Parts: sequence; C-alpha cells; structure tokens
Amino acid sequence: MPSKRLSADYWDGWYAGKAATPLVGEVMNRHLGLPPDLLAGVLPAEAIPEITDELRLRPGAVLVDLACGRAGYGLMIARASGARLTGVDVSAQALGEAREQASRLGVEGASFRVGDLVATGLPDASADAVLCTDAIQFPDDPPAAYGEIRRVLRAGGSRVVLTCWEPVDRDDERLSARLRRVDLAAGLAGAGFTDIEVGQRPAWLDRERAVWEEAATIDPGDDPALASFHGEAVRSLEHLALIRRVLAVATAP
Ligand SMILES: C[S@@+](CC[C@H](N)C(=O)[O-])C[C@H]1O[C@@H](n2cnc3c(N)ncnc32)[C@H](O)[C@@H]1O
Repeated sequence: MPSKRLSADYWDGWYAGKAATPLVGEVMNRHLGLPPDLLAGVLPAEAIPEITDELRLRPGAVLVDLACGRAGYGLMIARASGARLTGVDVSAQALGEAREQASRLGVEGASFRVGDLVATGLPDASADAVLCTDAIQFPDDPPAAYGEIRRVLRAGGSRVVLTCWEPVDRDDERLSARLRRVDLAAGLAGAGFTDIEVGQRPAWLDRERAVWEEAATIDPGDDPALASFHGEAVRSLEHLALIRRVLAVATAP
C-alpha cells in the first residue's frame, strides 16, 4: 500500500474534527487509562512513567516534544519532572490546543512552535531530551528526521525516546510503505546515537486494540471526525497482527 504525504492542512482538519467530537477522546482515554480530559494520542497511561524515567530529566531541563500534537504526553512528563517543554508540530490547530492544555494543566514555561520533524527551527544542541511519540514514520526522509533529533540534542548523554510501530515483515505489502520502512534502531544508529534499546510493548497494543474494537462499532452518521475514527479503527484492526508496538531509547554521546 503506497503512503501519501500528509499535509499540515490534513492534520489541522484531523485535530479540528476531534475537538468538535468529544466522543473520540472519551473512547480512547477510557481504554488507554488516561484522564478523561487529557488531549493525547494512543499511548496508554502506563507508558508515561516509563518514558519519563528513560528521559532522565532534571527540573529545569529542556524537553523537546517533536510532532507533539496537542502535547498531552509531553505536558504530563514536564509536570511530573519539572522540565521545560518545547513542543513542535506541523499543525497550528494542534499547537493552539496544546497551549490551552498547558494552561489548563498548570504547566508553566511550555512553548510551542510550528515546525517539521526534519526542520524544527530549533537551535543546535538546545535540548536535554527529545520525545517523539507515534510520528517518526511520517517524514518522507527518515534519516533527515533522526539527524534533526541528534542536531537539537546536547552532546554528552542527552536522551531520546521514540514510540512507534514496526512491521513484523518489511515485505508485507498489506502495510503502508510508511510503516514498512520504520526501523528505529537503524535510524538512531545512523544518526550517531549510542546505548540504543528497542523493546516491544504488546500490552500497549492490547490497549490500542480495545480502542479500535469499540470505534469500529460506532455508527459515524454524517460526523466527519467519527467517520475518520471509524475508518482508522477498521484499517487498524486489519493490521494489528502485522505490526509490533515498540519503544526506543538512546543516548546522544
Ligand atoms: C499520530 S499524531 C501523534 C501526536 C502526538 N505525538 C501524540 O502521541 O499524541 C502525529 C503527529 O505528527 C504530526 N506530524 C506529522 N508529520 C509531521 C512532520 N513532518 N513534522 C512535524 N510534525 C508532523 C501531526 O501533525 C500529528 O500531530
């Protein structure tokens, strides 16, 4: 299955639809164990403390959340650790919601900017840690995205945490070209990271499956966000056995 490039307009519409249809977040957060009002993605609640530990943040450290969306995960981690969050995403709509969410969650000092995973606009060596959840598959030039993460991180032990899905079989054409090429270990190694560990998280996939199973039963009527949620559920249920849920951590030497 080929992958079409998803534009900033596409993502703005995706987030605007979710904002207009609270049922999507209600179903997701209930199965993922997240607070009902958190604007987040498909990572479950138990991922948050694990990722926080792996980022090794000190209070005041700069945490960059790349392709942050509405920044639910970055904000929870910044609040728990005392880190200062910088979120970057192509969607101005998502970043508007991220700003409101930062204020609602009482996270001070968070800032957000429009930018691309391959060109964040952040200065060299300006981050103590980088987080990128469920988005490293999107750039057309994956090595450029891994290189950008390395560029913005300070050398000498800064950490990166990525979550994504990898194909069980890279040649399986039932999966999109975008997913088939995801290789977190190779991407991180190619950008010069060390201490790379990539582990599977089947329990996260179980939580995600529960989201899609309920979403697939929803009659979307003429609501475009519900139609998108329903369609994503049907496609995802066809593919869950073909992918692995993965967490990658690494160090910038
Ligand atoms: C599946 S969402 C994940 C959002 C967030 N990280 C989370 O886990 O909730 C993918 C995000 O990647 C962003 N995105 C897609 N392509 C991007 C790119 N090339 N550069 C920056 N952000 C991108 C989208 O706008 C969207 O917010």
